[in-house]
Amino acid sequence: MEQSTDLGGRILLVDDEAAILRTFRYCLEDRGYTVATASSGAQAESLLQRQVFDLCFLDLRLGDENGLDVLAQMLVVAPWMRVVIVTAHSAVDTAVDAIQAGAVDYLVKPCSPEQLRLAAAKQLEARHMAARLEALEDEVKKRRDVLNSNSPAMMAVLETARQVADTDANILILGESGTGKGELAHAIHSWSRRAKKAFVTINCPSLSADLMESELFGHNRGSFTGATESTLGRVSQADGGTLFLDEIGDFPLALQPKLLRFIQDKEYERIGDPVTRRADVRILAATNLNLEDMVREGRFREDLLYRLNVITLHLPPLRERPEDILALAERFLAQFVKNYGRPARGFSDAAASALKAYRWPGNVRELRNVIERASIICPQALIEVSHLGIGEPTGGNLPRVGDAMSLEDLEKAHIAGVLAASPTLEQAARTLGIDASTLYRKRKQYGL
Ligand SMILES: Nc1ncnc2c1ncn2[C@@H]1O[C@H](COP(=O)(O)OP(=O)(O)OP(=O)(O)O)[C@@H](O)[C@H]1O
Ligand SMILES: [Mg+2]
Repeated sequence: MEQSTDLGGRILLVDDEAAILRTFRYCLEDRGYTVATASSGAQAESLLQRQVFDLCFLDLRLGDENGLDVLAQMLVVAPWMRVVIVTAHSAVDTAVDAIQAGAVDYLVKPCSPEQLRLAAAKQLEARHMAARLEALEDEVKKRRDVLNSNSPAMMAVLETARQVADTDANILILGESGTGKGELAHAIHSWSRRAKKAFVTINCPSLSADLMESELFGHNRGSFTGATESTLGRVSQADGGTLFLDEIGDFPLALQPKLLRFIQDKEYERIGDPVTRRADVRILAATNLNLEDMVREGRFREDLLYRLNVITLHLPPLRERPEDILALAERFLAQFVKNYGRPARGFSDAAASALKAYRWPGNVRELRNVIERASIICPQALIEVSHLGIGEPTGGNLPRVGDAMSLEDLEKAHIAGVLAASPTLEQAARTLGIDASTLYRKRKQYGL
């Protein structure tokens, strides 16, 4: 997410006069802004490839370079950046052309420190507003994107989820760690008629039975040691909305009867307060544990389970929805390169095959982490297998025999994995049981 507000503002100065760069820099650094300078268009562009800037002061007359071309190029690399043209009095016409080409304002040289600072403050304010808006839009879009799946298994789950979202039925969401249970809970809330009311999450493993009771139902001042203030509790906060009990398998057994009663009767009492209260709360719960086994072992109440799982949604692991891997990877990549201002824009064929072939034990969360890391370390437009760090042949990462993929893709992914894990080509060839020359040819054929 954008952090520019906290950072004050990152400013790029582009001018071929060293004296101007120096004066401007002092003047702006004095205000706590982070400033970088470039004396040519090429230098500016190389800085933009590596760092994120919020604002640029650009002199259009840069030696023999055409300032308007430099401006256009900069806006391709950093479309979010606000560019203020700095111009001599005699060249105000070009400044007007520049504004047509996407600059936001111009300053006439010579300008006072106060004029420069004012211009910077004004543009950074605008940039921060835009960043906040973008973050909000991303957030909304992300919720909507959970809908996007090309996997039949996932589409079936989403279809059911959408159908039941608007009923008040309690829903139990099952699935391995990282499959998106939390995401789905949010989405269900946003599809329901409770969407405008609160969505309140309780993370069950983090609390003991006593603390959980107080967290859920609230307590009166003085009702136990340390209760210096009365609290309302999450149930009350969620009134009219949705309460999401995450990792419900870890909900304290001793407190389960009170939760059961609340779910059945919508009634509860705060600790140390005899008044019976009501709250209209829709319950969503999620776990990666097997609650039926836990019931059999006496670690989870059967009656509670049957209240929670009126509807059960089972999120498939990522390896069972291979159709989604690349689409998710591309979405994460777009998001991370934007946040970090990095050059990667896509995946090489080999990297795409490796992503599809990997088993993803950590599911979407792991995919997200792998793409975040790759987006940071990749210095070029295409992410290669070596940037993914998922090819080790001994790690159980390779595609399994019998996975739904072509022989060619399997071979490609396997070779990519072995290559990534081998110090030399000869050693990779030995591991694969083929000649080094054959490996060389295949590597070329597959573009590895
Ligand atoms: N369909 C999706 N689109 C985009 N991001 C997703 C999607 N599914 C999951 N994620 C992301 O993957 C990560 C894990 O998702 P989430 O926390 O919902 O999983 P979980 O099933 O609740 O995992 P755990 O059981 O470990 O709590 C989060 O960063 C989430 O934003
Ligand atoms: Mg979760």
